[in-house]
Amino acid sequence: METVIRVDSLGKTYGETVAVEEVSFEVGRGEIFGVVGPNGAGKTTIIECLTGMRSPDSGTVEVLGLNPLKNGDDLRRRIGVQLQQAALPDRLKVREALELYSTFYDSPADWRGLMDRWGLTEKRDTVFSTLSGGQQQRLFVALALLNDPEVVFLDELTSGLDPQARRASWDLVRDIRETGKTVVLVTHFMDEAETLCDRVAVVDRGNLVALDTPAALINGLHAESSLSFSTSNGFDPARLRHLPGVSEASRERDRIVVRGESSLLAPVAAELDRRGVAPRNLKMEQATLEDVFLTLTGREMRD
Ligand SMILES: Nc1ncnc2c1ncn2[C@@H]1O[C@H](COP(=O)(O)OP(=O)(O)O)[C@@H](O)[C@H]1O
Ligand SMILES: [Mg+2]
Repeated sequence: METVIRVDSLGKTYGETVAVEEVSFEVGRGEIFGVVGPNGAGKTTIIECLTGMRSPDSGTVEVLGLNPLKNGDDLRRRIGVQLQQAALPDRLKVREALELYSTFYDSPADWRGLMDRWGLTEKRDTVFSTLSGGQQQRLFVALALLNDPEVVFLDELTSGLDPQARRASWDLVRDIRETGKTVVLVTHFMDEAETLCDRVAVVDRGNLVALDTPAALINGLHAESSLSFSTSNGFDPARLRHLPGVSEASRERDRIVVRGESSLLAPVAAELDRRGVAPRNLKMEQATLEDVFLTLTGREMRD
């Protein structure tokens, strides 16, 4: 895989605050790469160094083979950035913002197409200040895509959005990748990173504490998974104990609870099917990226 971003021993200090300390990672073309961690971890600082908005104190960064500080103009033509703390003039209309921003580029993408794809056509004559949080975010992403960038940086894209708007944004992030772009997704939502990202860099207090696919990080915990369901009283859970991946099966009140490896689902389902047992209200609980963070740092991922 072609490497589009190289970060090597990046460090950045603000006065007494060490925001980023010796962070290294690489991002391959076409990835959705997550930079995840709690508020204050140093995520935005990393993105600012990658996009030429801040100069690192130590280490080197390279994006598309360019030094963001030395080749800033060349780089900005080829990347798109949606910033965490972005704003537009209150009275600027959606259509005007897109049209204006597209004049900044030599060969801009079709702004009407972007307006449509990001669900903003209906709001084309609405001024920025009266857009909902989700609409403002979508407008910022559309603006970040105007130069048809190869790499797109999205910083806390879904903060402040309701669950439905968040899920809609996730689909749009996948869309961006489908068009061949590399996405760097910064988020403090672990579920978002787990759902969307091919690989994640977990950052805590300025340090990289893990770097892998969400599945590998979760499997690495060797945490127990559990499957539970209700069924007729006659079913004996002991019949499931010999199955591969199952370490324990018992009746807890009106439910059967099966514990073991995350691979237990298929053999349990097959066994139930073979015996003609139809499980009801089936639930599977597995470790998540939140658990990975807790295990690595000893702290919960709360703000
Ligand atoms: N411009 C700044 N001046 C001083 N301290 C800052 C500045 N920007 C960020 N920090 C501090 O650096 C640390 C990392 O911040 P940031 O990169 O914004 O983290 P994140 O994006 O993960 O929330 C925090 O302790 C924050 O308070
Ligand atoms: Mg931030």
